[in-house]
Amino acid sequence: MTEQQLLDLFHQMTLEEKIGQLVQLDGGCFGTDAMAVGPREKLGVTEETVRNCGSVLNVLGAEKVHEIQDHFLAENRLKIPLLFMADVIYGYQTVFPIPLGLGSTWNPKLIREDYKLIAEEACSDGDMVTFSPPADLIRDARWGRCLEMPGEDPVLISHFSKAMVEGFQNTWEKGKSVASCLKHFAGYGAPEAGREYNTVDMSKRRFLQDFLPGYKSAVDAGCELVMTSFNTVDEIPATANKWLMDDILRKEWGFNGVIITDYAAISELKAHGVAADDAEAAKLAINATVDIDMKTSCYANNLADLVARHEIDEAQIDAACYRILTLKNKLGLFEDPYYGCSVEKRDSVICSPEKISAARKTANRSMVLLKNDDILPLKRNKQKIALIGPYADSLDIVGMWAVHADHKHSITIKQAMENVLDNEYFTFTKGCDFLDDYSSLGEFGFIPTIANGKFTPEQSVIEHENALTLAKEADVVVLAMGEHMLQSGESGSRTDITLPEPQKQLLHEIKALGKKIVLVLFNGRPLALTDIIEDCDAVLEAWFPGTAGGLSICDCLFGDYNPSGRLTVSFPYHVGQEPLYYSQFATGRPANGSTHSGRFVSRYLDCPNEALFPFGYGLSYHKAEYSNLTLSQTKISKSADDSIQVSITVTNTSGTSGTETVQLYLRDLVGSVVRPILELKDFKQIYLGAHETQKVTFTITEEMLRFYTKDYTYQSEPGNFKVFVGPNSAELLEADFSLTI
Ligand code: BGC
Ligand code: BGC
Repeated sequence: MTEQQLLDLFHQMTLEEKIGQLVQLDGGCFGTDAMAVGPREKLGVTEETVRNCGSVLNVLGAEKVHEIQDHFLAENRLKIPLLFMADVIYGYQTVFPIPLGLGSTWNPKLIREDYKLIAEEACSDGDMVTFSPPADLIRDARWGRCLEMPGEDPVLISHFSKAMVEGFQNTWEKGKSVASCLKHFAGYGAPEAGREYNTVDMSKRRFLQDFLPGYKSAVDAGCELVMTSFNTVDEIPATANKWLMDDILRKEWGFNGVIITDYAAISELKAHGVAADDAEAAKLAINATVDIDMKTSCYANNLADLVARHEIDEAQIDAACYRILTLKNKLGLFEDPYYGCSVEKRDSVICSPEKISAARKTANRSMVLLKNDDILPLKRNKQKIALIGPYADSLDIVGMWAVHADHKHSITIKQAMENVLDNEYFTFTKGCDFLDDYSSLGEFGFIPTIANGKFTPEQSVIEHENALTLAKEADVVVLAMGEHMLQSGESGSRTDITLPEPQKQLLHEIKALGKKIVLVLFNGRPLALTDIIEDCDAVLEAWFPGTAGGLSICDCLFGDYNPSGRLTVSFPYHVGQEPLYYSQFATGRPANGSTHSGRFVSRYLDCPNEALFPFGYGLSYHKAEYSNLTLSQTKISKSADDSIQVSITVTNTSGTSGTETVQLYLRDLVGSVVRPILELKDFKQIYLGAHETQKVTFTITEEMLRFYTKDYTYQSEPGNFKVFVGPNSAELLEADFSLTI
């Protein structure tokens, strides 16, 4: 409808109807009256609230969306359609790799195209808004939600959050776009000690400098919604944080879309101890310009009273309501309340060959070869391969946050290997269970296969014997192992980030047979691999690779794809190093280059400071040499529109062609505040033919040298800098330059 029609509609609304728009309920509250009473009463909202409600949480399925919308519109006085919002984070039915894997592609353009496909699938089945991208910077492997984010670096995460928003919203192409909700604003990736929902507390400078850019990039890309995070920011929960939501997000960044809370976050303001009751919690949130209350009765049952008591202004509710109506109108819901979803459309787009092949292409690029002692690529039908491990034939390879995906679409490694290998060269058994004890995993409603892999004691014995027998007969053992799917994701914090015990044991036993081991790893966070790495001849980090995972693993293992993934997170030697990230600050007593003796420097007595596998790292089947780092000039002037061209020669010294990700880092040697020892500023991906040499050029501008200086102004400071270029954050060539006034 036109803006005028929307305003006319808005002016007909009662206060109760406006408040209704600010309320999000789950699907259980709708539908036939008898069925809906239980969930509604449990939440403590009235029938009238349900009739006036604005949006629905996590209901997907064209049939269900039509049914709920029809029933709702029949009861709603002004016929304002419900908005359907759901978690479609990295795939709907065709699931792409978890974002940690997407990050490892270092290819945001590719990911933007994938997200268009995700949008098409999701909206065909009723999704209008997706709660994605999560743009939380991650730096602590103990945190289970590492899997949802592209990595530990602000520049990288900014590229990906932009690409994801652009892909989802897809310039609003009809039937191929959904509104994107950035989350979890802000700082959610830094809970103390990696414990989910714990306090986040850091310097303001680090918050502005490292943690905000990923979100800002999504806002600049035009995301329609932003979700508040559960955590505190400067000791004020984000959902009640007016500085964060109003001053930074709305006023400074110019965001005029819809702010929604995370699940029940308004009510949690009481547990945080900043609100005494629901009314106070509602007041804090609306004062922070939070528009939608997800899944609590705080707004529904308190806003009208707060207006009546003159504790808040009705204009605040008007503004929030109008933002929500504007979004509904933008999506065209007043003309088509189903947003084009239908069973026919869904059935024609879901898991189409085009989508599976896109998922396979990206999964290929997401896998990181961590180790290879001349054993990969494997030789097809020349070596006897035993495929062993709880993930060898598991459909649960889509990761914990593909909550709406039907796992039966997954292609397992076993299925894929059977297709490429003759029977006499291939054997398979699970060998062991994921875990000794599943009790700590708790429940997670969406995931049907939680018990998958649980053996009886008898089965355990048989599987174990089978595994050793098959291993003995094989030339190479491919072990498909990793964290259980529910050991990462929301509320998946762990203090032990090693391979689960029964799998580790089997790996050691197979090594003791003197067998060559290729470990294919499934995990949603960096793992500490110190205790198994020596026993492995090769390690392929597959993350949770998504629907086409089995195919991609075979592509990489047999060399049909030359692995090109590079880590975007640091893999520690030991969990005790966490939070571990490459862009550490300089210290007064650096471990290397300090004037102090060996003991009195910043280090551990029992572990290196560095990562076992550093940020940016990954092997390939080709070999690249970096040489000849040259700068067009060694001075850059702050006043002029000046720049330095940095070039490097990259030579493929092998007969295999492949992809290199050339990375550029900077270090500001002296600043008004302490600066990181290394910061990624740019990267370029090149494809090198066999024995090919290419020159790669970057541009350093003054803008790249800016940071939050002593007085919090964002600017560069004249002085000396180092530039580093190389294949990862630990193998770099360096040169010097300076910034003059
Ligand atoms: C998660 C969000 C998610 C929301 C809705 C919360 O528990 O933190 O990431 O979007 O639930 O399902
Ligand atoms: C220690 C101080 C000590 C000083 C003088 C430093 O290395 O940190 O605690 O007082 O040496 O011995």
